[in-house]
Amino acid sequence: TKVPVLTIDGPGGAGKGTISSLVAERLGWHLLDSGALYRLTAQAAVKHGVSLENEAALASIAASLDVEFPVEDGLPCTLLEGEDVGRAIRTEQAGERASKVAALPQVRSALLQRQRDFCQAPGLVADGRDMGTVVFPDAPLKIFLTASAEERARRRYLQLQEAGVDASLSSLLKEIQARDARDTQRSVAPLKPADDAITLDTTRLSIPEVVDRLTELLAQRG
Ligand code: C5P
Repeated sequence: TKVPVLTIDGPGGAGKGTISSLVAERLGWHLLDSGALYRLTAQAAVKHGVSLENEAALASIAASLDVEFPVEDGLPCTLLEGEDVGRAIRTEQAGERASKVAALPQVRSALLQRQRDFCQAPGLVADGRDMGTVVFPDAPLKIFLTASAEERARRRYLQLQEAGVDASLSSLLKEIQARDARDTQRSVAPLKPADDAITLDTTRLSIPEVVDRLTELLAQRG
């Protein structure tokens, strides 16, 4: 029997990360945070002094990434070559670098099998940009999660404030728009809903409302 996959794609800041982990937790399914793999590839490149323009070298870094996602004291950790980089890969700069390396076809293909390996019983929630279009094209339920750029910038701003990080709403909006443009306009695996995806605009929805809606949809399909 096939392992069920729920794909959740969409632009940065739409709440995919939060929603995906809550849905995975509720279902008891595995979680793939594919963006983390691109962030980690860029992080490893910077660590080893590899240029973000050197496609072949970046692809070989991606293919041999030494990462682990252990849970320590109930908290999920991200280890790169044994070093905890959970915070380092979440900065705006790390996201910017990730979106650069993610535009390189050889990097994407180097990460393809690694992403598919996450598909294990009892099921997988896969969070990214091309989960429904490229990585898991046969997934029975595909969601495209969006929100207006202004709302996404506002959410990011509140998150940063809560973490005690200084930020400006207008520069966050500009960064979000620049990253959207890069992700939707690249030639390989551009960000777009799969033909059979259900688009959910979360601009006016709370997190629990979105989680409930997804669980309902899954129950209808399953
Ligand atoms: O989702 P997250 O913000 O962590 O992703 C960082 C960057 O990685 C995105 O801006 C995008 O360029 C890239 N990415 C991708 N394909 C995915 C997930 C992320 O190209 N499946």
